Amino acid sequence: MSVDGGDSKKNVKKTPNDFIFGKVIGEGSYSTVYLAKEVDSSTEYAIKVLEKRHIMRERKTQYVMREKEVLMKLNHPFFIRLFYTFQDTDRLYFVLSYARRGELLDYIHRLSSFDEPCTKWYTAEIVAALEYLHSKGIIHRDLKPENILLNDEMHIQITDFGSAKILKDVKGEEEAPVSGRTTSFVGTAQYVSPEILTSKKAYYSSDLWALGCIVYQLMSGLPPFRGGHEYQIFQKITKLEYEFPDGFSVVAQDLVEKLLVLDPEQRLGCEEMGGFEKLKSHPFYEGIDFEHIHEQKPPPLIPFLPATSTNPENIWSNYRQPGFDDARMVEIITQTVITDDERKKRLDDQKQTNKYHKFVENNLILKQGFVDKRKGLFARKRMLLLTEGPHLYYVDPVNQVLKGQIPWSEELRPEAKNFKTFFVHTPNRTYYLEDRESRSEEWVAKISEVWQQYYGNRNNKK
Ligand code: ADE
Repeated sequence: MSVDGGDSKKNVKKTPNDFIFGKVIGEGSYSTVYLAKEVDSSTEYAIKVLEKRHIMRERKTQYVMREKEVLMKLNHPFFIRLFYTFQDTDRLYFVLSYARRGELLDYIHRLSSFDEPCTKWYTAEIVAALEYLHSKGIIHRDLKPENILLNDEMHIQITDFGSAKILKDVKGEEEAPVSGRTTSFVGTAQYVSPEILTSKKAYYSSDLWALGCIVYQLMSGLPPFRGGHEYQIFQKITKLEYEFPDGFSVVAQDLVEKLLVLDPEQRLGCEEMGGFEKLKSHPFYEGIDFEHIHEQKPPPLIPFLPATSTNPENIWSNYRQPGFDDARMVEIITQTVITDDERKKRLDDQKQTNKYHKFVENNLILKQGFVDKRKGLFARKRMLLLTEGPHLYYVDPVNQVLKGQIPWSEELRPEAKNFKTFFVHTPNRTYYLEDRESRSEEWVAKISEVWQQYYGNRNNKK
């Protein structure tokens, strides 16, 4: 296995000894990314390290080759750059530009959502990047805020081309299929386009669908198609089932509605609809100079939460401590039904160690945490306890008094509004709750899972 056929820069073969490897800055299923410093130049890079045996065992060689091939074709300020590749007996190394400011997703989490000037700016950078990428005959196919990194100047650096598709080479020797269609791949649930789900075909405009999802997410705090399980998300996507929250900018809404179109040939920005020129002239982008955007200074992102340190690097560094991420989501939604023995053991433990046990009528607590329960403009701190039964108890934690329950029924439906706020809709009332730790999706996922267990068709009906 060899992927280091030639360096993208100079003809000098580097080795791991040319770099000092620092902290891990990214981890994927098949790779680990390290912050590294080149010994000679003191230049910082992000080095993606892949275990050869793991790649071969999992038959992912073609994705690794694809990523390298795509990165070597790109030369644009809004994309991560590949500087060197090399290998030793066990590993492959990709030396990439270091995007010091991390993932766009972290900023969405921190700010809850972006204001209109920031959404306009950052999605305009994505538009400029996609115009370039598509001109090279490449579809990204997994565009999402995790794959949009930020450099020191706070410009975007798109990364992760393992899922990309090359439709034609740079010289255009190989013709693209009709309408730029390609075969079989499913990206990340929330951003995947309906044609990939229904016909397993990706178009250039599949990236424009993802752009529509990102515009929606930056403005509102959450992507448009949400659900506790992947299949719920897929159903919503294929039915174009989503809503705009109150306060969503009218002009941004118009843009999103023109991007989130089921027919890939009817999306603003695709060739059939007048190409990128039409997209760039949408009123949402009025005043943006697409030609020179990479040379201009982005508007400041003002943190929603006050900084905890005078060091701006540290403002973000605590994020993802115990936070909600994909791994946690998988843990939640793949949790199996509890056996009788396990229940007894956990209940015994709960009795002895959990001071909220006395409120839950001997039911096993499945999730608990502090929330702010809103009524109009007022909020009260409550301990929310989701238990078997099912029940949703809420307790005044200061006075240690049970204040009530959110009544369960088949009609109960949780909904995340943004990272902090979630609703529990019941026939008579919508409960408005705020998770102080910004983990509303975690509550929604767990409540959805319990709903499935008790009322869903797939699981044991109780
Ligand atoms: N995480 C994964 N790749 C990265 C990069 N190139 N820069 C910064 N963080 C990363």
